[in-house]
Amino acid sequence: MNDLSRPLDSSPVGSSPHPRAINELPVRAPLLRGIHHLAINTDDMRTTLDFYVRILGMPLLHGLITGVGAAARAVARGNPPFDQIPHYFVDMGGDSTLAIFEFPQSKAPKADRNSVAGMQHISFAATPARFVEMQERLKRNGVEIMFGPKVVLPPNIQSIYFFDPNGIRLEISADMSGDAADLKVVESVLMDRATMRRELGKISDDSAWIDLMLANMSERPPLYPGAKMPAG
Ligand SMILES: [Fe+2]
Repeated sequence: MNDLSRPLDSSPVGSSPHPRAINELPVRAPLLRGIHHLAINTDDMRTTLDFYVRILGMPLLHGLITGVGAAARAVARGNPPFDQIPHYFVDMGGDSTLAIFEFPQSKAPKADRNSVAGMQHISFAATPARFVEMQERLKRNGVEIMFGPKVVLPPNIQSIYFFDPNGIRLEISADMSGDAADLKVVESVLMDRATMRRELGKISDDSAWIDLMLANMSERPPLYPGAKMPAG
């Protein structure tokens, strides 16, 4: 018995059976426009706001105390299961926001970023100059850079990795060969079709499915077709 035949009411709270990808027309440009808000949980709003607002430079946007009846809403729309908790929004750039909930202390387990369905890490995009500036800013404020700067995607997309005060793994990525101001994040990551076909062949031997995936590849021209990771 697979997930599709499982009755809905046997699903754990917050999950649903696997959807089927039906015969929609190929999509080569995204239907959505990016992140409205990415929501994270803390048990120390002040320290978390200090980190994102004052160290990472994300201006404050909105703050509120959530309502009552949280337990019911937690089931209905996935809200945190606590009444009247602080909830703040900051500006992460690119017309996207980061939302923060403050849980009561010791009332929820610590997340494991390496669990299935967990958020492994967040990478923020930066211009080449801001990438260098952010490294200085982090060091100045005593934030340890755990790894990098190092090329993580070809030909020269570099990253640094560090942790927020809650233990959430963060990354800042920059195309160090890219335009000084006009970040082309998608085009810089986009690979050529031949390489994509080879990569898909490593996860499936279903050539019809691979053709379907390629029909849904971005219509944008890759900035770096055929780019390979630098040696070493
Ligand atoms: Fe990453």
